[in-house]
Amino acid sequence: MAEITLFPQPQQLEQKPGAFKLNRHTRVFAADGALGDMLADYLRPATGFGLPAHPLDDDILADATNAIVLAPADDDMAAEAYTLDVAPERILIRASQRNGFLYAMQTLRQLLPRQILADGPQADVAWSIPSLRISDAPAFGWRGLHLDVGRHLFPVDFIKKFIDTMAFYKFNIFHWHLTEDQGWRLEIKMHPRLTEIGSQRAETPIPANPKQGDGQPYGGFYTQDEARDIVAYAAARGITVMPEIELPGHSLAALTAYPELGCLGSGYEVRASWGIDANIYCAGNDKVFTFLQDVFEEALEIFPSAYIHIGGDEAPKDRWRTCPKCQARIKAEGLADEDELQSWFIRRIESWLNEKGRRLVGWDEILEGGLAPNATVMSWRGSDGGIAAANAGHDVIMTPTTYCYLDYYQHEDWTREPPAIPSTLTLEQAWQFVVVPEQIAKERKHHVLGGQGNIWTEYIPSTDQVEYMAFPRAIAIADILWNHPVDRNYDDLAARLRAHLPCLDALGVNYRPLDN
Ligand code: ACM
Ligand code: ZN
Repeated sequence: MAEITLFPQPQQLEQKPGAFKLNRHTRVFAADGALGDMLADYLRPATGFGLPAHPLDDDILADATNAIVLAPADDDMAAEAYTLDVAPERILIRASQRNGFLYAMQTLRQLLPRQILADGPQADVAWSIPSLRISDAPAFGWRGLHLDVGRHLFPVDFIKKFIDTMAFYKFNIFHWHLTEDQGWRLEIKMHPRLTEIGSQRAETPIPANPKQGDGQPYGGFYTQDEARDIVAYAAARGITVMPEIELPGHSLAALTAYPELGCLGSGYEVRASWGIDANIYCAGNDKVFTFLQDVFEEALEIFPSAYIHIGGDEAPKDRWRTCPKCQARIKAEGLADEDELQSWFIRRIESWLNEKGRRLVGWDEILEGGLAPNATVMSWRGSDGGIAAANAGHDVIMTPTTYCYLDYYQHEDWTREPPAIPSTLTLEQAWQFVVVPEQIAKERKHHVLGGQGNIWTEYIPSTDQVEYMAFPRAIAIADILWNHPVDRNYDDLAARLRAHLPCLDALGVNYRPLDN
């Protein structure tokens, strides 16, 4: 039997003799019509026209031939689980919840000959799918990719294409990094200067020589309608969009729009170089909290995600140390220092988000000065923050630079690669991603929700480059988060990828070739 290559690798796969032949007479039956239509759309290139989706009943379930049947599971399956039975007579998919069906459909797409992924009618051809039984469910419930649109932004159509590629690999969280020193990217109707002023910068560092600017004004943002469209597009594909609105740092674009929100009160300009800015929201000014509540109020209307990311990373305390308002706040609240002031700031935002029924996620700096009571920590400066937070009983998401930073060079020899952040993360290193470090106590391991790859875009001006940096490293991360393999032989991974990467060619997705 021919070798079957799937990413992510299913938990259980048993090959059987024979094959199902998909042709223009194949019918799709589904209890949920929207899911049936979606499968029919995915199969459209195979047949040259949509296979109409039909409602499902018990007779069909018992007898249908030349059919793909999406049926509810007999017994309750785990939320994201599915089974997929391919036999010569028919294909039967079972799941308890919508995401299970979606994952089965993605598995089915990868089982089809890859010509089917490409556009273009292929009528009157019978496509062969090998008989098998797959029983599958993810090891981790948080399987994310992050994209920074502050440093560079990308068209809505590309964001959708990126979400499609994520869905192909069964990712379920798109972490959308929307605000930065170098640009504010989300329309906020109550505070229009955020995009009028804050979305524009004077110039952008040249990738090959980042000390120098290119002299070209740069800017743009997503309207609330565009953001809602992206949220709905992702939801249809089983992906939650988690927005990130940064505080107290990485906020220079907002301060440029509304200078009264900073400790100095004036003199700000949207940052046109990379690096960390000293100017952050003033923690002593009550207007800052009113402003942030307005922003989150509108963001929560757009993003139904249970988790809301508030940043929290890389906030220098220099301004707070010399600001009379910030120092008065420290005194009034009985805080020990500026770290505790940051903690106080984040707790205040958290209690507001919690009242609205949402959960706060922050980068691991939110541990400094004391963690907010219900916060989820995203561990990025290695795994230590995640270990400390999990052992303290907090949920964590693992995204350490060591394994997950997809903006790093993909080869040790940087001269062979396009300019990138000056650090290296090879595919082989990403493949060693330790999601649950052994320093987390056994009874705390369940606090690790999962992990994600992060794509910061200082050196990523184009959509082609986003894909080049993401793939194939993100495919390895998807594999690890889905089936958490113990044995991580790199040669095996490379052999599987060699067989699989032509799928990305067929889908028109760019990637770094393995053998460069
Ligand atoms: C980060 O990479 N600054 C979270
Ligand atoms: Zn201040």
